[in-house]
Amino acid sequence: MDMTSEELKSWFENVHITLETAYLSHTEPWRQSGMSGPQDRWTTLRKPVADCIEHDGSFLDIGCANGYLLECCRRWTEERSIHVTPYGVDMSQALVELAQSRLPQYRENFFVANAFGWVPPLRFDYVRTELVYVPAEYERAYVTFLLENALKKGGRLLVANYTEDLPNPEVGILPGSHPTRRILERLTELGFDTNEYMDGYDAIRDRKVRIAILAA
Ligand SMILES: C[S@@+](CC[C@H](N)C(=O)[O-])C[C@H]1O[C@@H](n2cnc3c(N)ncnc32)[C@H](O)[C@@H]1O
Repeated sequence: MDMTSEELKSWFENVHITLETAYLSHTEPWRQSGMSGPQDRWTTLRKPVADCIEHDGSFLDIGCANGYLLECCRRWTEERSIHVTPYGVDMSQALVELAQSRLPQYRENFFVANAFGWVPPLRFDYVRTELVYVPAEYERAYVTFLLENALKKGGRLLVANYTEDLPNPEVGILPGSHPTRRILERLTELGFDTNEYMDGYDAIRDRKVRIAILAA
């Protein structure tokens, strides 16, 4: 059942305040992006996002936090001679300001907005998101909204699941988000089928990520 507009507003406010407070209490760039680190774990678990990028183009990171993923993705794709123009959006103005100082030459490419309802001023070749950015019952509407409003024709929506294969995916996500254990199965349930994905695996903590790739 849908939430009332007041319930929805307070759900997003809780996400905003909780994540912004947590991320800003740290100084390491990966922690300011919500990952406990250290750097080599960050690389193992986030480089698969860059590996989904197959050609030059624009890349919007939804929930860009301090911009560290965008900075790293540019570096990781450059290693394959692929040039990415970074764009970011986040609900948190304070985190967007950090992202702008991390990538000052692209400061105009950052936006403060709730991605669920924000129509970007341009369309992108690649857009990364997570389903947990909206309450469980809005995931289908959210993915549809992004496919219709954020991507160029032939663009790719990268749907990251950072709780892939966890026995208890509800641990570590905020109340009201859907605890997704298998991103491909969840997307199928929502009506979006794909067999394309990239995986990352961190043996130290036995953590896996899967980035599902949907064609617009
Ligand atoms: C885990 S961090 C992601 C950092 C980085 N993009 C990555 O993938 O590692 C999640 C970020 O998403 C932002 N966020 C969550 N829901 C959002 C929404 N509906 N619209 C915009 N930003 C959102 C939060 O403020 C937070 O900075």
